[in-house]
Amino acid sequence: MEVMTEPLVLDENFLQNPYAIEAELRASAPVRQVITPGRLRAWLVTRHEDVKAVLTDPRVRKDSRRATELFKRFLRPQSPVLHPTYRALENHMLHADPPDHTRLRKLVGKAFTTRTVARLQPRIEQIADELLDQMTGEVDLLEAYALPLPMTVICELLGVPVADRDAFRDWTHVIVASDPRRDLVGASQAMSDYLADLIERKREAPTEDLLSDLIAVSDDGTRLTKQELLSMAILLLIAGHDTTVNLIANGTLALLRAPEQLKALKADPSLLPDAVEELLRYEGPLHTGTMRFTVEDVEIGGVVIPANEFVLVSLLAANRDERRFEEPDALDISRSAGGHVAFGHGIHHCLGAPLARLEGRIAIGKLLDRFPDLRLATDPDTLTWRTSTLMRGLEALPVHTK
Ligand code: HEM
Repeated sequence: MEVMTEPLVLDENFLQNPYAIEAELRASAPVRQVITPGRLRAWLVTRHEDVKAVLTDPRVRKDSRRATELFKRFLRPQSPVLHPTYRALENHMLHADPPDHTRLRKLVGKAFTTRTVARLQPRIEQIADELLDQMTGEVDLLEAYALPLPMTVICELLGVPVADRDAFRDWTHVIVASDPRRDLVGASQAMSDYLADLIERKREAPTEDLLSDLIAVSDDGTRLTKQELLSMAILLLIAGHDTTVNLIANGTLALLRAPEQLKALKADPSLLPDAVEELLRYEGPLHTGTMRFTVEDVEIGGVVIPANEFVLVSLLAANRDERRFEEPDALDISRSAGGHVAFGHGIHHCLGAPLARLEGRIAIGKLLDRFPDLRLATDPDTLTWRTSTLMRGLEALPVHTK
């Protein structure tokens, strides 16, 4: 297969409207060199089969220390992305390979099984009800509902004061975008300081929550270093809310734009679990997986990616692959959308998927139940998406509740 020499620039136009461009890529350049908004040169993989191949190939890795060395090829030495404060946050399972990955994931695995998270259902329902009680007239669904719900759940699970959620949201947006034009170091430092202080307080006076449990593990010996503890807390906080927010908001938008589907779901709420899977497929919360790199030459989809190059998989593009899903650009809640890769694939498959599914079902189910006349308060074509190759998330979602 021909390899294009000019990398495709992932600009604002691409991030706002990726689907048509990625359909072309799947057809003619399914493994294509790109330049990210953060100025990294990477290979973008868009076909479902190839995305899964990358995510299970042991020659395509995460190791944050080696990734840092590779970043240096592209970035100025003073780039905030290379700053030790920012790099230190990446000391967690999502940026680790086995055996570190296996050790770190095992420490929290039990807290996120389907059975354990099912116990949270009554509390999640209560949080949703309380938020819905406060919504009247025209609201930004993101601010009023989609954001506070998962944020409250993950803060309570970890034992982090919910009152500080606005600060978390701001730090998270800067950190997740990892955009060198924003104050990455400041946000990283603020979040680290905040959590380091909280960890100290919980060490003195443990409480019944996941963070206190992890502190005990860390103090106990060799399974979790202090730096890993801090990174783990940050990962869980960020991964636990910034994604589910988008499931609720993107999902609601997709339903409001497909009245027949919305009607079918309202008529038969037992379709909710399938509907949530289809919403994850149709407009998932993450555009790409996180950055990986090759440790040797790797052939993907007929293209040889040389050693020491970055690889990005497009989860959105894979979930719209016509080779895998019939009529992929149509929202169809009656289809069996199993096999989508919205939660990734392989060893880094989302740890929080059972919690995210539960939150998504409760949030969307209750919202439609409470506001049967829910509708958009703006032309959907004027909505803007966040500037991030990682996230597929709206800036705001104005709706009429009555
Ligand atoms: C990993 C998606 C919610 C925790 C991932 C990955 C994806 C993903 C695609 C893999 C990234 C990669 O391989 O580069 C989602 C989506 C969510 C969601 C779409 C919501 C709908 C959550 C929640 C938590 C969570 C609620 C709870 C704490 C994690 C963790 C990892 C992860 C810890 C790292 C797993 C590992 O490296 O082994 N998620 N996530 N996620 N997610 Fe989620």
